[in-house]
Amino acid sequence: MGRIVYKYVIFIFFSLLILNSFFIIAHSKNLDEKKPCKRFVLYYHDILFNGTNAANATSARVTNHTKLGNFNYGMLVVFNDPMTKDHHLLSPPVARAQGFYFYDMKTEYNAWFSYTLIFNSTQHKGTINIMGADLISEETRDLSVVGGTGDFFMTRGIATIRGDAIQGFDYFRLQMDIKLYECY
Ligand SMILES: *[C@@H]1O[C@H](CO)[C@@H](O)[C@H](O)[C@H]1NC(C)=O
Ligand SMILES: *[C@@H]1O[C@H](CO)[C@@H](O)[C@H](O)[C@H]1NC(C)=O
Ligand SMILES: *[C@@H]1O[C@H](CO)[C@@H](O)[C@H](O)[C@H]1NC(C)=O
Ligand SMILES: *[C@@H]1O[C@H](CO)[C@@H](O)[C@H](O)[C@H]1NC(C)=O
Repeated sequence: MGRIVYKYVIFIFFSLLILNSFFIIAHSKNLDEKKPCKRFVLYYHDILFNGTNAANATSARVTNHTKLGNFNYGMLVVFNDPMTKDHHLLSPPVARAQGFYFYDMKTEYNAWFSYTLIFNSTQHKGTINIMGADLISEETRDLSVVGGTGDFFMTRGIATIRGDAIQGFDYFRLQMDIKLYECY
C-alpha cells in the first residue's frame, strides 16, 4: 500500500515537472525585431481647427494649454485624421486615425498619443489600437500597438513615428511605420 502511494507521488511530481516545462516553452517566444509578420507605412495628416477652417480641419483642441511652462502643457486635441499611403494630403485615405493627444511636458514640446486606426475598405476591415509617449525631440518614436480587431485580430507590435512635415500650428504630418509581431 505504502509503495503504491509512493509511486503515485513520484508520478504526480514528474507530471507537474513536464507540464511546467511545456508552460515555459509556450511562453518563451523569440521575437526578432527585424522580422515583423506584417509591416506597412502610412502617413497621418492633422489639420487643427483654427476658428475659420471648419470645412478642412480634422482635429480640434478641446482644452487649452495651462500656464505651466511655455510648451502647451495640458492642451488636449481630439482628431479624426486621414491616413494615406504616400505623403500627399489629398491622396485617397486608406484608413482613419481616431483618438487624441495631449502635451505633457513643461520644458519642451512633448505629447502622449492614443488612437485607433480604422480600416474600412475592400482590402482591409478592422482596427489597430496604438498608444504611447511622443517625445517630439527624438528623431523617431516608438508607440505600442496594443491590440486589434477584424483583419488585425489580437495583433501587437510597434508603430515607429517620425515627423514628416509641419506648417505652423495648423498642419503636421507623421510617417507611421507599423510593424506587427503577432498575426493570426
Ligand atoms: C486658419 O487656416 C486657414 C487655412 O489653413 C487659413 O486660411 C486661415 O487664415 C486660418 N485662420 C486663422 C484665424 O488663423
Ligand atoms: C488659448 O489660450 C490663448 C492664450 O493663452 C488664447 O489666445 C487662445 O484664444 C485660447 N484658445 C482657446 C481655444 O481657448
Ligand atoms: C464601412 O464602409 C461601408 C461601405 O462604404 C459603410 O456602409 C459603413 O458604414 C462603414 N463603416 C464604418 C464603421 O465606417
Ligand atoms: C486645408 O489645410 C491644408 C493644411 O493646412 C492646406 O494646405 C490647404 O490649403 C487647406 N485647404 C483649404 C481648402 O483650405
